[in-house]
Amino acid sequence: MRQPRTILLTGGAGFIGSHTCVELLRHGYELIVVDDFSNSTPHVFARVERIAGRRIGAVHDLDIRDRRALSAVFARHPVDAVVHFAARKAVGESTRLPVEYYDTNVGGTTGLLWAMQEHGVHRLVFSSSCSIYGDAGRAPLDEATPARPTNPYAASKWACEQILADVCRRRPEFTVLSLRYFNPVGAHPSGLLGEDPRGTPDNLMPYVAQVAIGRRDRLRVFGADYDTPDGTAIRDYLHVMDTAEAHRVALEHLADGPGMQVFNLGVGAGRSVLDVIAAFEAACGSPIPYQVVARRPGDVTELVADPTAVARAWGWRATRDLADMCQDAWRFQQHNPHGYAGRAQPRAYQGATP
Ligand code: NAD
Ligand code: WQD
Repeated sequence: MRQPRTILLTGGAGFIGSHTCVELLRHGYELIVVDDFSNSTPHVFARVERIAGRRIGAVHDLDIRDRRALSAVFARHPVDAVVHFAARKAVGESTRLPVEYYDTNVGGTTGLLWAMQEHGVHRLVFSSSCSIYGDAGRAPLDEATPARPTNPYAASKWACEQILADVCRRRPEFTVLSLRYFNPVGAHPSGLLGEDPRGTPDNLMPYVAQVAIGRRDRLRVFGADYDTPDGTAIRDYLHVMDTAEAHRVALEHLADGPGMQVFNLGVGAGRSVLDVIAAFEAACGSPIPYQVVARRPGDVTELVADPTAVARAWGWRATRDLADMCQDAWRFQQHNPHGYAGRAQPRAYQGATP
């Protein structure tokens, strides 16, 4: 089967999507991006193109739930494969807005499957999440760990995986690779691309970076009474460029054959909240003030990937460590103290190229 060359990325303007655009452009892929910019900005593409030294083929500003508009995109471009990032991803918000989360994440995915089926596109890389494992109570976790989602966000990702597996069972022309990311963090080493959350960051690394730059006075550490060596919760932090590279490798393996495969994407090493603070202090050269507060509801003690399946199947493994993640996140924060909005763009984005 022919290797895919023209890739449609849903959510390609987002944190992981924009870094994946750089990686794919640098490897010669033609890219079509679909995004509604509900959690991102089109300014990111000028930066992506500047780093990669190549243009994105086309950008379509649309909601993936708009089936007619999505179908028109497939009609217009010779798409070989899809990388499906577009989703709502805030766990806390999902508990308040479950219908919105199921609609975007599950409805958006079935809408995408409609368009793919209609236009004879059958190869998909799907963004899944370690959150589907819930509180497994042990580490590391391999892909056979039963899914026990504990919030609508995680449940929506697990529902998508089940739908995709069933579609692959019934329609053997489909190939789906579902990647369960653990905690992607960091930034492109250029300092041009990074994580730019709207409002107060939910996640640890962007919060720490905003404390380091002086936008927030202190980090609140959610719980120091966990059953871990230093009492704080443990996660498997993965550099966003390692995450992006894994998608490029996944695209190469879409041609291996039909059916669905699921892989964890993680380093396989657990780091505590205090480990992250110490690594960030080393990167930025100043202390990160913090205060220990109560546990965040819904947080689990430990989530660490067993990443051996993807290493065995594709030879892919993460190559960057926590120091790299913190140095790159800090460089992005220094160059963009107020995110993408607060800085002149390197070159005005020209708009969608047909
Ligand atoms: P992000 O919010 O930065 O990117 C998602 C992109 O999708 C944004 O550009 C947003 O504007 C777009 N989008 C959202 N709803 C849309 C819609 N209805 N139509 C079109 N575009 C839409 O998130 P991210 O961190 O880059 O995450 C990408 C994917 O990876 C998501 O599916 C997320 O659930 C998954 N994931 C992320 C993490 C993480 O820690 N960042 C971990 C596990 C899984
Ligand atoms: C990491 C650790 C917090 C903020 C989330 C989603 C998961 C996946 C990855 C999408 C935890 C602690 C955090 C703060 C803190 N995303 N923390 N103070 O919760 O592991 O995972 O992102 O799929 O689904 O749930 O990531 O970065 O929010 O937290 O002490 O201000 O940092 O308690 O132990 P999390 P996170």
